[in-house]
Amino acid sequence: MRLRRSPTPNLAPNLASTRASNPADSAAPAAPGAPPAGTILDAYVREAPTAQLAIDLFRGEWASLLPAEIDAHAGSIPLFIDPRVDWIVGQAGGVDGRQVLELGPLEAGHTYMLERAGAFVTAVEANTRAYMKCLIVKELVQLQRSRFLLGDYLPYMEATDRRFDLTMASGVLYHAPDPLRLLRAIARVSDRVGIWTHYYDPAITGPESAHARVFVEPPYTAGVAGVEVSLHPRHYLEALQLQGFCGGSAPSAAWMELEGIVDVLRGLGFTEVEIGETDLAHAHGPCVLLYAQR
Ligand SMILES: C[S@@+](CC[C@H](N)C(=O)[O-])C[C@H]1O[C@@H](n2cnc3c(N)ncnc32)[C@H](O)[C@@H]1O
Repeated sequence: MRLRRSPTPNLAPNLASTRASNPADSAAPAAPGAPPAGTILDAYVREAPTAQLAIDLFRGEWASLLPAEIDAHAGSIPLFIDPRVDWIVGQAGGVDGRQVLELGPLEAGHTYMLERAGAFVTAVEANTRAYMKCLIVKELVQLQRSRFLLGDYLPYMEATDRRFDLTMASGVLYHAPDPLRLLRAIARVSDRVGIWTHYYDPAITGPESAHARVFVEPPYTAGVAGVEVSLHPRHYLEALQLQGFCGGSAPSAAWMELEGIVDVLRGLGFTEVEIGETDLAHAHGPCVLLYAQR
């Protein structure tokens, strides 16, 4: 019997054309014994394994200061020892043994804190680079009870049959193009939510302010659960050019006002809304820490 073979993909012409189009190759011949540049061999590491090698896969893109147990330098923001997480966990009465849904884990700093506090974490991240960074951290700090899902948390929450003891929504509401849809989805999957977010305050982010250049369109009214609020379109502009960009997947978001956030949470059935620390002078606009439960 004769077997019919399907054609085998041949990478050689692609590699050859890559080499030919690389001016560095024609300018300087490779050192004797060095692997040829512009091939898959570029993807190999030839040093003994270190945490830094893994971190440097995304060199210059890290935001977080890593915990001391990881012997590597990444960013400078202390997201692995974040008092906002401690406050939310405290408001929720602890998370030991509880199922926590984390929205937008970025580099898994809060995931690390939640797991160390005893939680089982499901973290949903849409940015592929952030997702890979989470997996690197997961390996380096050996997270055991945390799962990272690559995808958009909105359709996930709108469709899942799972319920969570707490949703951690830190740093995501002000990145949402449709924040009311986000709050409604959160209310669908859990009775407790911790939020840290920037918000629009006419006195601080209005047309006369330093923030005006990103709020170029007029506000509009939208509603959910019988509550109508003002939303303020905010554009990312040049921030979209950064590899370490950590916003949403659309070129703009819609910022809520603080009163609107509280009203919508109440409208969605969160009978207890606790406002923690606010910072009106934050460089990126006023921000607030909130906890709500029903
Ligand atoms: C500002 S960072 C917040 C990181 C962390 N939660 C914190 O509070 O420090 C926002 C994160 O949410 C992710 N993100 C934004 N929109 C998302 C969406 N629709 N689905 C999943 N992840 C999203 C971003 O990629 C980013 O990692």
